Amino acid sequence: MKKLLLITILLTGSLFAQVKGNIEVPYIPYKVKMGKGFTTVQANCLTCHSFGYVLNMGKQPKSFWKGKIHKMVADFKAPITKKDQAIIANYLTEYYGNGKLK
Ligand code: HEC
Repeated sequence: MKKLLLITILLTGSLFAQVKGNIEVPYIPYKVKMGKGFTTVQANCLTCHSFGYVLNMGKQPKSFWKGKIHKMVADFKAPITKKDQAIIANYLTEYYGNGKLK
């Protein structure tokens, strides 16, 4: 056990030792459309990643957005209530939709 701990310390120690000075991660602000449901999106969708993930998808039908929301909840365990999921689906369809439901 002690040996394992020592190996771990040596390995991770040398990893950190490679970086000298401060690391700066660029902050990228995205233009998000304000509108009904935005605060719900902000509270539920921007906790793990930026809005860039949504923008990168382009304009999509409602079924697509519903699927993404479901993926976030089912696969990535995002704690979003059914009510908020519906609000978010409507927001994304309204502002980032392609006018189609499917
Ligand atoms: C619990 C953390 C978490 C929350 C909350 C979350 N996401 Fe994600 N999201 C992820 C992860 C993890 C990925 C995959 C990242 C990767 O593959 O690089 C992702 C990726 C995405 C993608 C890229 C497409 C894809 O299928 O991977 C979209 C679009 C997206 N999220 C939208 C949303 C929306 C909309 C919400 C709010 C309903 C949301 N996310 C909330 C974790 C989260």
